[in-house]
Amino acid sequence: MKRQEFINQLMERANGTPCERGEAFAPANIALCKYWGKRNAELNLPVNSSLSISLGSLGTRTVVRYAECADGVFLNGEAAPRAFSARVSAYLDLFRRGRQFFEVRTENTIPTAAGLASSASGFAALVKALDELLGWGFSLCELSMLARVGSGSASRSLFDGFAVWHMGQRADGMDSFAEGFSEDWKELRVGILEVSNAWKKVGSTEGMNRTRETSELFEAWPAQAQCDYDELRTAIAAKDFPMFGKTAENNAMAMHATMMAAWPPLCYWLPQTVSLMQEVWCAREGGLDLYFTMDAGPNLKLLFLEESRAAVKALFPMVQVVEPFA
Ligand code: PMV
Repeated sequence: MKRQEFINQLMERANGTPCERGEAFAPANIALCKYWGKRNAELNLPVNSSLSISLGSLGTRTVVRYAECADGVFLNGEAAPRAFSARVSAYLDLFRRGRQFFEVRTENTIPTAAGLASSASGFAALVKALDELLGWGFSLCELSMLARVGSGSASRSLFDGFAVWHMGQRADGMDSFAEGFSEDWKELRVGILEVSNAWKKVGSTEGMNRTRETSELFEAWPAQAQCDYDELRTAIAAKDFPMFGKTAENNAMAMHATMMAAWPPLCYWLPQTVSLMQEVWCAREGGLDLYFTMDAGPNLKLLFLEESRAAVKALFPMVQVVEPFA
């Protein structure tokens, strides 16, 4: 099935009222059980279910209007880089009626494409804004499927707090959607350690495809991801922080191991990434309940509880602390 057919099938359910403009915010999300590997690249259908935590007010705000004779894409107040505009316009092609053009103004409160999941909040904010402008009247679950087509992880950015993206089984992708779950965890903190905010050389789609095609270790990934997913759900329900942190960190390391065993090898880490990881391991040996996760980029996201905030700040003075349930 082609992307366009999938979108057309969903559009048959639209029944809202169009507006002159659409505006929406979506949070960035950090996967604790990662999405890595597509079973269908055309529809962005994953080989495993994933689970994330959204970052509250860190994310993307987007305004969409109709434009006269061409799309205009703006990022943080300036004309967006060509690759960025091209990706947005290609996505908008899926929804155009005839010679219809859009102006998209997007503001990020996080560095773009630094592995801080800004494509996730970007596509999630865009579909919410389009829902208002074009009057689809879709549920969050339906919007998560539209966002998924733009960027898989964007499906989870429709929700605050914890979210899961069900991999689904169907070939047409109609059961591959995200949803939030009611559990919260007031004391949970995410610490962002930015190593570099440069644009990454190998995007996540290329990284996933290369890994899936060439890495011997990838065979073990879907089963590990399923186990980690189950353990994280158990740990969250029981508020078992050591189990939660260990599972998330191990899941991230396993994902990166599959990439390193790809050919050509894929390593998103920089020297500073490794030294920060070692500082975390050292602090943990010293008794601090501190874990990390990482996406397709060099930055670390620390996981800890409020009671450890002072110790974490002392160790990493540059850390940006996020309270996901504030
Ligand atoms: O949504 P994409 O295509 O940018 O892929 C995201 C992949 C990871 O960030 C590495 C993992 C995840 O689940 O967010």
